[in-house]
Amino acid sequence: MAKRPLIETAVFPVAGRGTRFLPATKASPKEMLPVVDKPLIQYAVEEALAAGARRLVFITGASKRAIEDHFDSDQELEKLLESQGKSDLVQQLHSVLPSYATCIYIRQPAPLGLGHAVLCARPAVGNEPFFVHLADDLIDADVPCLEQMAQVYDAKRASVIGCEVVPRSETDKYGIVEVEGKDATTSRVRSIVEKPKPADAPSNLAVVGRYLLAPSIFQHLEQIGKGAGGEIQLTDGIARLMREEAVYAYKFEGKRYDCGSKLGYLQATVAYALSHEQLGRPFRSHLLELAGSLRRQKAPGAATARKRKPTRARRAG
Ligand code: G1P
Repeated sequence: MAKRPLIETAVFPVAGRGTRFLPATKASPKEMLPVVDKPLIQYAVEEALAAGARRLVFITGASKRAIEDHFDSDQELEKLLESQGKSDLVQQLHSVLPSYATCIYIRQPAPLGLGHAVLCARPAVGNEPFFVHLADDLIDADVPCLEQMAQVYDAKRASVIGCEVVPRSETDKYGIVEVEGKDATTSRVRSIVEKPKPADAPSNLAVVGRYLLAPSIFQHLEQIGKGAGGEIQLTDGIARLMREEAVYAYKFEGKRYDCGSKLGYLQATVAYALSHEQLGRPFRSHLLELAGSLRRQKAPGAATARKRKPTRARRAG
């Protein structure tokens, strides 16, 4: 069977300030938050590379320099580790980015929204279909989510949006699509709307942070104005694109963690720690022990809500 054509470019909008994680994200990017031992942005890049992407376009903003440093080589650190005989760690550093991949950094001049961020990638993308990956949405899947979507693209030759059913009460956190075949895994999108209130939502099928877009999206993004939240929304660009060509919603296989929320981030950390090669077993034992002692506690939640006594310094302000 002939191999599917490669989607060479992946765009990572990383300009958002991550206010839900303040103060952790005051001086460092939310995409650098680690899940066990890798930052979120590295999981994102690994997923894109596994789907065949070679050109990695980061749309960055204020206080995001750590992302560039992460994907750059660090000769000084490598020399130090070599001199200490720690070649396994040097290998780990090398594995952050394979030599065939190219990183391009484009600065988004102002936080004008996801649609605007994607539009900033235009000069680096050119006239080819491309991935958009939001690192907040970490997806654990046997076949990487973007690879699943590339296979759908290959069959349909049209834009594909990664989707998931969410509780109706949460429609106002997502782009929501209405599709032709409600139960199908891949279905043509009839309408798409950004963050509708549960009462107004056309369905509870939500867009998660994975897109495979035709380059014609750019001309639509250029023309839309500000939408929900006063921002230039990718959702509105896709709504316009749909007037001219088909867009498909794809319910991916895998488990998504919303690492933009503290709870989702903690859940991802626990799940990834449990399946970690070295940490998995001891961490599992620890969790079982913890679960046992939590169950024995009389007042539910007492352990999680335990308050620390203020230290003298903190009392003094
Ligand atoms: C963005 C998109 C939204 C999508 C979501 C997925 O929203 O605008 O349509 O459902 O990502 O995570 P954000 O979470 O950046 O507010």
